[in-house]
Amino acid sequence: MDSIIVKGGRELNGQIHIAGAKNAALALMPATLLSEEPLTLTNTPRLSDIKTMTELLRSLGAEITALQDGKVQVMSTHGTVNTTADYDIVRKMRASNLVLGPLLAREGHAIVSLPGGCAIGARPMDIHTDGLEKMGATIDLKDGYLHAKAAGGKLKGAVIDFPFASVGATENLMMAATLAKGTTVINNAAREPEIVDLATCLRAMGAQIEGDGTSRIEIQGVDRLHGATHPVVTDRIELGTYMLAPVFTGGEIECIGGRMHLVESFCEKLDAAGIEVTETALGLKVKRRGDRPKAVDVMTEPFPGFPTDLQAQMMAMLCLAEGTSVLKETIFENRFMHAPELIRMGAKIEVHGNTATVKGVPKMKGAPVMATDLRASVSLILAGLASEGETIVNRVYHLDRGYEHVEEKLSAVGAQIERVSGK
Ligand code: UD1
Repeated sequence: MDSIIVKGGRELNGQIHIAGAKNAALALMPATLLSEEPLTLTNTPRLSDIKTMTELLRSLGAEITALQDGKVQVMSTHGTVNTTADYDIVRKMRASNLVLGPLLAREGHAIVSLPGGCAIGARPMDIHTDGLEKMGATIDLKDGYLHAKAAGGKLKGAVIDFPFASVGATENLMMAATLAKGTTVINNAAREPEIVDLATCLRAMGAQIEGDGTSRIEIQGVDRLHGATHPVVTDRIELGTYMLAPVFTGGEIECIGGRMHLVESFCEKLDAAGIEVTETALGLKVKRRGDRPKAVDVMTEPFPGFPTDLQAQMMAMLCLAEGTSVLKETIFENRFMHAPELIRMGAKIEVHGNTATVKGVPKMKGAPVMATDLRASVSLILAGLASEGETIVNRVYHLDRGYEHVEEKLSAVGAQIERVSGK
């Protein structure tokens, strides 16, 4: 398995191009199941999660051609499709569950494996299934698979009140409702930019959706959707990650494609920590004001709050801040697995339940560390950039799920970083 080796202490300067959003692309790709006509996505990130979704959609009968080195995906789904999403693919990636709504809308029935838990928490699917049941589906769990059937072969509109603003459930239900009979209202819907991106694409395909980006989304079902071409929105998590790089090392980085409205709550915290972010014609430019960032308290929340997917990277930064910070994780129950690894590099962190107290230290030291999940992996790379000596991040397959060419992007701005195969 590959490792990433980082030698710390180099200042970073230059531009980093931010890719299209993984989490948007993973919701947009299943939308091919809603139409007979081609759906083309541009600005798709080159990631292993995209390959997994391609494999899943192909197994259902979609034809997918990757162009421009994977940056463009042309997808077509004709006729009757296979309606079983197999455990062997679904277990690799939780977002596979996003085929449930579209399959049910297209064929009136679907069998989709439950994804199972993952390192950061149990992550059930009750909000998805309760919503689909409100739309007239019966859903039974047999042998680890959800067996879903729409009454009379077609979903019908319903008013659905989410107990929590789940991102995946909003996406699944929104897609299911585009072809349902009548009007669906989702109350307490997720408001993430990836939801707005999916709604924008579905509208380009002929769907009637209003209110995306707010907590009340209304979808008027239509008989059919047509083809469209849609550019994937910028990845705000990749953006936030690279915005932090010069905070660790000094220097100035311009993140090309970055936009403030994608990372507002994150930028508020950066400002409080003494980091300067300026909007440029091409993106966002970041540099730190002093030698060290200042401590800030952070609590993760659904959008527009501070994203859980930037919590690990922020914690790594706060390990080097002046003062003591308190981080509270409210979205996932087990998302501090990077803390023991950062402690191996000299950080001072105490974790109690969903709260981590981070006492900033002036310096950290390189060490061999283990990547435990996607965002944890990159937080260790960021810490490595600021540490004395060599940091070896093992088990980087998580990283390849969410960051394209991380070592190339960072070495182009001056980092000493390389990938070692099979070490
Ligand atoms: C998406 C993102 C993920 C991000 C998360 C929260 C994708 C592919 N992934 O994940 O990167 O960290 O949003 O911003 O877009 N929950 C339930 N029942 C459900 C659904 C969710 O209890 O039916 C709980 C989960 O266990 C979790 C919380 O709700 O604790 C948030 O989950 P959700 O918003 O659904 O996240 P995902 O869509 O899985």
